[in-house]
Amino acid sequence: MLSTGQMNAIQQSAPLLKAEGTKLVTVFYQNMIRQHPELLNQFNKTNLMNGSQPEALAATLYQAALHIDRLEELLPAVKQIAHKHVSVMVKKEQYPIVGHHLIEAMKEVFGLNEQDDTLLAWKAAYDIIANIFIAIEAEMMDENVKQKGGWADVKPFVIKKKKQESPALISFYLVPEDESELPMYEAGQYITVQADMPGEAYVCSRQYSLSDQYHPSYYRITVKRDGHVSTFLHDEMEEGDVLQVSMSQGTFCLQEDTKEPAYFISAGSGVTPMIGLVKTAAHRNQPFTMIHADRLEDVTAFEKEFESVLASSSHGRIILCNEQFEQSGKGGLVEKAACRIDRPILQSVMREGKGQFYLCGSPTFTQEMIHILKEMGIPEQNIHFESFGGQSMKEMEVV
Ligand SMILES: Cc1cc2nc3c(=O)[nH]c(=O)nc-3n(C[C@H](O)[C@H](O)[C@H](O)COP(=O)(O)OP(=O)(O)OC[C@H]3O[C@@H](n4cnc5c(N)ncnc54)[C@H](O)[C@@H]3O)c2cc1C
Ligand code: HEM
Repeated sequence: MLSTGQMNAIQQSAPLLKAEGTKLVTVFYQNMIRQHPELLNQFNKTNLMNGSQPEALAATLYQAALHIDRLEELLPAVKQIAHKHVSVMVKKEQYPIVGHHLIEAMKEVFGLNEQDDTLLAWKAAYDIIANIFIAIEAEMMDENVKQKGGWADVKPFVIKKKKQESPALISFYLVPEDESELPMYEAGQYITVQADMPGEAYVCSRQYSLSDQYHPSYYRITVKRDGHVSTFLHDEMEEGDVLQVSMSQGTFCLQEDTKEPAYFISAGSGVTPMIGLVKTAAHRNQPFTMIHADRLEDVTAFEKEFESVLASSSHGRIILCNEQFEQSGKGGLVEKAACRIDRPILQSVMREGKGQFYLCGSPTFTQEMIHILKEMGIPEQNIHFESFGGQSMKEMEVV
């Protein structure tokens, strides 16, 4: 347990962390990866290089400093990070490595020496925070392997079917090579896929949301052509090829069974978790509205699937948005709106401002939607999001 003096020292370092946190974690990652390049098997190199992973960690440290006397308030965020850690196979033996390099970076960037009170307080605090993560993650890993059909880390999956959904989107149907039944998963969760790419010294790990409800024999993911790994999956991975895949993780799932309306708001590849979520809401007979925006050639990728969801639900609406649609209106059951997702369209579909809001897309899209919803008076506990970049805590600051 931390002493009052240690808690004060940490809280006093919060402004410094806010101002210099990104610099701190950038130095931390550079030094750590130089000494432990094998960590590139787990980290997404793009997120490290474009700064989104350093920013996510810096924001978490800042929040930890602010809440050091009431860490339990951070539990929802800790759980979300723990899901990511389990998905990328973080091990308890790796926490001292991260702790060592973080403290070394604090010395270097903040000019602290070994005996400085602030440094000693952070060393103690890191151990406490690390132990919280280790305990939660051990429990989650244990639950994974205990589940019928469950496994630890990754196991081989065969690409059973590859389906072009639109110019930019391809669905992969992944079946366990050992043909075992898949453990239950919740709509909205994601898996980690490891790509063993030619010319790369380490495997490239990426997360992909499951783009359908539970099916016992396959995971379906839908990948947008975007960069390194997604292009490799599109161009090089064919039916019959094998990928290493983790069990599903993630907290972006429907809230408890409720008759409250659910709003699903997505852009681009953010549509993927929404497909399983709308099917689940329709199955529960829960009123829902989905609004999705994408490029003209991609926005209707799942229209047929959405039509059958709406045919089975008397309380659902699905609106596809693109500014280049010739006009707004209904073709079949799915509606089309000739606009981007903005405040007017959100206001027009909302029923008395009540309900749960689920957002998914790029970090920029997610932040913009959170901002609009907050302006419209939606309570933060009713806003749930999955961001397809490593920035969970950053968006939490917006919330
Ligand atoms: C929980 C979760 C679920 C996800 N679900 C899905 C999903 O269902 N479907 C899906 O398609 N994706 C999903 N993603 C995103 C996915 O994990 C990958 O990030 C995505 O496929 C891009 O990876 P990549 O290797 O192809 O691109 P990368 O090579 O990693 O590049 C990512 C982006 O950064 C840009 N970029 C790369 N390097 C630079 C640079 N030096 N300067 C400027 N820009 C650069 C690229 O152009 C690209 O737009 C999800 C992410 C998370 C965290
Ligand atoms: C107390 C210590 C730690 C904190 C506070 C922390 C914090 C975070 C945060 C905030 C994220 C982003 C989560 C998200 O995208 O939703 C993350 C992701 C991640 N963490 Fe940690 N982490 C810690 C320890 C570790 C350790 C010990 C490892 C082991 C190497 C590790 C490896 C990773 C990896 C690989 C990711 C995914 C990054 C990506 O590629 O996008 N973390 N962590």
